[in-house]
Amino acid sequence: MNLLVLLTIAAVLVVIQVGVTRWVNLNRLAWMAIWWAALWAAFSYGITPPLPQSIVVLFMAIITIALLAYLSADSEELAQARQTLVSFMVEKRYQVALIVVILTLPLLVALSVFSSLNQAPQPPASGRTIHPVPPASISFEGNTINLSTANNPYRELEHSDPEAFAAHVDNGRRVYFENCFYCHGDNMEGAGQFAHGYDPLPANFNDATTIAMLQESYLFWRIAKGAPGLPPESTPWSSAMPAWENFLTEEEIWDVILFLYEFTGFEPRAQGMPH
Ligand code: HEC
Repeated sequence: MNLLVLLTIAAVLVVIQVGVTRWVNLNRLAWMAIWWAALWAAFSYGITPPLPQSIVVLFMAIITIALLAYLSADSEELAQARQTLVSFMVEKRYQVALIVVILTLPLLVALSVFSSLNQAPQPPASGRTIHPVPPASISFEGNTINLSTANNPYRELEHSDPEAFAAHVDNGRRVYFENCFYCHGDNMEGAGQFAHGYDPLPANFNDATTIAMLQESYLFWRIAKGAPGLPPESTPWSSAMPAWENFLTEEEIWDVILFLYEFTGFEPRAQGMPH
């Protein structure tokens, strides 16, 4: 119940009933119209939670019938109301008002149809899947790489041959600063000189939610296939991440991955753990 609205409507009705009728001889038709409008306002705005539109329409149909029945109960009243309508339609002094009514009624119908059909366009709800499930395998230069078992082939050198490992990391550094830092930034913070032009922004590798929680094979997939390789579930994407398979060798990609982890100090997520 919205008491404020209901009390206002009741007050308006009382004022009309007691006050106005004292000065003006209120026509029966006008009286009906006022009651009709008052009840419509009460049903539409006076009740919380709001009644469904279909219920309001149903109530108003019943009220219309009830008011007509009330009006027709007294033959004198009925004749008077009929006389009002007839004179409105035939008398010259009402001609302009009649034309206005004749034009307004279809316009109101058209307006209500238009506004019920004309729903504002809504953008589709779209959550962006930042780390979609990778495909089971990808093809790279004619070979198939199984992403759930693939390991960085140079990772083991970290312990077995630190010198060779350092050479791979160095190569990764070269690859990074030749190709990646324009977007991912010279500190890997995702703020390279081109970064401001992109949405989504280039990944910030210092952030614990990027490479720190991903496996190296996942990175291999993302670097090799870039934005074009993202599955449909992560659309709409307008990622600018290039597909590096067209420019880098397999070794260069594994090397730049080593460098990403070396530089940020993160460990890759162990193989076998779900993404
Ligand atoms: C033209 C700009 C651009 C360049 C150049 C670029 N990237 Fe990206 N990269 C992005 C954007 C934008 C994203 C974020 C959207 C996405 O994941 O596709 C991204 C995402 C990534 C991700 C995914 C991180 C995650 O958390 O899923 C990796 C890994 C990555 N880039 C590595 C690289 C490497 C390595 C290079 C260089 C060989 C490189 N990028 C060059 C724009 C770029």
